[in-house]
Amino acid sequence: MAILVTGGAGYIGGTVARSFLSRGEEVVVLDDFSKSLPASVPEGCAFYEGRSDNGELIAKIAKEHEISACLHFAAFIEAGESVKDPYKYFYNNTASSLGLFHALMDAGVKKIVFSSTAAVYGEPKYTPIDEEHPKNPTNPYGLSKLFTEKILETFSASYGIRYAALRYFNACGSDGTGNGEDHHPETHLIPLVLQTAQGIRKQIFIFGDDYPTPDGTCVRDYIHVSDLASAHLAAYDYLMSGSPSVSLNLGNGSGFSVKEVIETARKITGHPIPAETVQRRPGDPSVLVASSEKAGKILGWKPERRSLDEMVASAWEWHKNNPNGYGA
Ligand code: UFG
Repeated sequence: MAILVTGGAGYIGGTVARSFLSRGEEVVVLDDFSKSLPASVPEGCAFYEGRSDNGELIAKIAKEHEISACLHFAAFIEAGESVKDPYKYFYNNTASSLGLFHALMDAGVKKIVFSSTAAVYGEPKYTPIDEEHPKNPTNPYGLSKLFTEKILETFSASYGIRYAALRYFNACGSDGTGNGEDHHPETHLIPLVLQTAQGIRKQIFIFGDDYPTPDGTCVRDYIHVSDLASAHLAAYDYLMSGSPSVSLNLGNGSGFSVKEVIETARKITGHPIPAETVQRRPGDPSVLVASSEKAGKILGWKPERRSLDEMVASAWEWHKNNPNGYGA
């Protein structure tokens, strides 16, 4: 049996694919390189280049491998960009997922682990956010993922597919096997801060310091990518054992502000990291901190790497050794 991983050349998909490979599983990666580079395809997987909504390609993959489940990562992930260009997000995240799910069902694949996001919740009514929290995304990115969750919920009831929707908070760090965070273009806080430490960027811009948070900057729950990977192994096993569909938060339960991240990076890297406050980025909720109690109960999962120091140090290790990311 093989596991199909869409977006498996990406940061989280690639890390998860490597975890399955090192457990001895057969992994098939499907990626169109719209946001990644061929160099980041995990070694040891079967690879297909293409879009995840390409029905003919999915049928071909299912003919050539016996697919037990699909782990669906392929998506655009920039909240700020989604406000400027919502069509891109509804098309690439929601419509493409619909196409993929249809093709999977045609091929008899009925188990799906879906990469969802904390962005489905929007501005928190209470913290930490549990799975029952109201879902009112503040940006089209979050909406595009929420719509996809709704499709899965409906298909689960009507067609008998089973899924685990995993709502990641802010993924970070590297898995220590040469895989790290490298987006094109880069928009995420920790890589940008570390690129500033390296002198690749002159300064880091703080997007707003007038939020209702202790230091005025946005607070996020940073979760180490290796902890996300262990949750995916557990979610896959959960579905394979016949358990019902489920939606779960994956976070570490602590919130860190943008200023705390920059300060920690100064300490870890020993570089000054100049920072300048500019206006808010549209679509950013002020605070996103998870309760992952449900994932603990259902999957027996708990994050192991919880201090900001540890997460930034792990990201720094990769950035130091890969100043050009997966590029030349
Ligand atoms: N930020 C800055 N300056 C920058 C980049 C980011 O101040 O140059 C701030 C943002 O405004 C935000 C925080 O740093 O407050 C984190 O921003 P990121 O872009 O790193 O991450 P997001 O919180 O916007 O989104 C990420 C993922 C989403 C996921 C979400 C869940 O990109 O896929 O975390 O919390 F849904």
